[in-house]
Amino acid sequence: MPDHGTDTSPDLPLVDPELIEDAGASNPSSRPTMGDVIATRMSRRDLVGGLLAVTAITVTTVPLAEKAAAQQTQAPSAPAAAKSSFPFNELTAGADEKLHVADGHDADVLMRWGDPLLPGAPKFDPKAQTPAAQALQFGFNNDFLGYIPLNRSSSHGLLVVNHEYVSRNIMFPLKDRPSPTGAGIASRNLAETEMMAHGGSVLEIRRTQGKWRVVTGSRYSRRITAETPMLISGPAAGHKWMQTKADPGGRLVKGMLSNCAGGITPWGTWLTCEENINAYFMGRAGADADETALKRYGIPVGWYGWGAHHERFDIGKEPNESNRFGWIVEIDPHDPKSVPVKRTAMGRFKHEGAGNVVNKDGRFVVYSGDDERFEYVYKFVTSGKVDRANPRANRQLLDHGTLYVARFDANGTGEWLPLVHGQGPLTPDNGFADQAEVLIHARQAGDKLGATKMDRPEDIEVNPKTNKVYVLLTNNTRRSPSQVDAANPRADNRFGHIVEILPDGADHGSAKFRWEILVRCGDPAVTAVGATYNVATSPNGWFSSPDNAYVDTAGRLWIATDGNSARTTGRTDGVWAMETEGALRGTSKLFLRVPYGAELCGPMMTPDMTTLFVAVQHPGEGEGPAGPSTYDNPSTRWPDFQPDMPPRPSVVAITRGDGRRIGG
Ligand code: FEO
Ligand code: CA
Ligand code: CA
Repeated sequence: MPDHGTDTSPDLPLVDPELIEDAGASNPSSRPTMGDVIATRMSRRDLVGGLLAVTAITVTTVPLAEKAAAQQTQAPSAPAAAKSSFPFNELTAGADEKLHVADGHDADVLMRWGDPLLPGAPKFDPKAQTPAAQALQFGFNNDFLGYIPLNRSSSHGLLVVNHEYVSRNIMFPLKDRPSPTGAGIASRNLAETEMMAHGGSVLEIRRTQGKWRVVTGSRYSRRITAETPMLISGPAAGHKWMQTKADPGGRLVKGMLSNCAGGITPWGTWLTCEENINAYFMGRAGADADETALKRYGIPVGWYGWGAHHERFDIGKEPNESNRFGWIVEIDPHDPKSVPVKRTAMGRFKHEGAGNVVNKDGRFVVYSGDDERFEYVYKFVTSGKVDRANPRANRQLLDHGTLYVARFDANGTGEWLPLVHGQGPLTPDNGFADQAEVLIHARQAGDKLGATKMDRPEDIEVNPKTNKVYVLLTNNTRRSPSQVDAANPRADNRFGHIVEILPDGADHGSAKFRWEILVRCGDPAVTAVGATYNVATSPNGWFSSPDNAYVDTAGRLWIATDGNSARTTGRTDGVWAMETEGALRGTSKLFLRVPYGAELCGPMMTPDMTTLFVAVQHPGEGEGPAGPSTYDNPSTRWPDFQPDMPPRPSVVAITRGDGRRIGG
């Protein structure tokens, strides 16, 4: 989901993610900020951080002295002998209509929006889309990608794909849109086509003679949409707040929405995360509705107006339907008839992703950010242990465990605070009658527990080689100087930063941790920005707005971004390779960049690291060099570059002709 990196976009199209993020952006809990103790924290932690120390202290503790501070925003030179983990030749940053990848690598489009997937799917005709056609074709705005090997292969497997949202004014011609920008109530045909373009896809893919292909007619092929029946499991299943007219039992829901990032479990299932669910609900709450609770989740927004055709999306007509979205969904992609399950034990919020690890004691740990300004970082620790020998034994694992929310303290330590009913403030007196209510209102529980308000937590990924956890904080232009704290050290944070968590004892079940800031993003050459890249980083190597991350088999960190553009940073989004250890720590290099208007999602490799899959989301969205970009006059027609074809969100396979690992 893009942010467009600005509060001043001159001509917002219908699909304005800023509106979505604003809609619930008022975390009203009024804990004091930690500005008064920043000096304490910085004087110790960033010195521990070594190379990044001088800058961090100066920029954070003397925000008004940015000019002087920025003279020190880069670390000392790395020793010439330091060996890069990424020997590829860096790309030149920039912005144009095409996708570019580092020398020696090939980029092949694997699957595009509208490509037929299921039997009977018609050939893609963007001028005459129907719900029936779209339900059989690859969906829109591909986000998370998960590669699940078949027979442990790195050349044959399942690729699971999230379809997060739709960009109406890029997806439909002007004649079909309710207005030039797309705003307004659309026709039933258009709205239902959008509903079928959401959800996810399962593809069987195979590499032959060096090239990846989708296996046509595969028994694994599947489309999941806004109408696919799903079970609700865990502590909130059946609760009165989950009951609707269509489902008085509160255990069965149609569809999943705004599926952003996700994760793959060791037992071969797909965790797919519902993020900006407030976008889908419209209408006026009834007299007996809990307006405060709705507002805490930014509901309603009325972005799509589907409620005009399907009343479950109208909160006046179906007040509880929105409680049935905002969960992590578990899907078994090996069985196309399996019923997806919303796992309520992991809480309800705008889940960005589900980075995970098997802890050293065998329990499974899922990290997840709530992607909105001033929201929280969470982890879930299962009660039971992963059974690696018997995948079926893990089927209920995610229904039992403890959800925690993070507090980052100024002294460089932190604590995971349990969201457990009856503990601390999570009592009936504070509005939590039982554990279901704690989980359905996880944000309010985090407020009561005093969690740290972060700068839009996106992906959180674990490096299993070091047990360090990377938290990508994409940006937050609403943070004022008085709201600055140790873990979110910049006011008007346009460029984002990455926090590194070190669990105490390398134990992901521990309640305590230490933390560092790996990098503050933005252009290190602009003094006021206060970026903290290693000086080994070239002018192409810095980025803004980190969003997704991937740790490869070698433990190397790859960063995908959402928010760079010609206007904001002079470069489109892409993939940057980031050094995390040793003298080069904090150095990044540009590996891949996307066409105008796109963000880069879902980087994931095969286990042998010879293929990197990426999702190019919403190419051509927003502003282009010639003004607003639409279906009728797009800023790019990637990937087809045919005059009658709009830009198409697509999955791309990156390989090397010499068969060596990605990035060298
Ligand atoms: Fe869907 Fe937070 O990006
Ligand atoms: Ca994003
Ligand atoms: Ca994202």
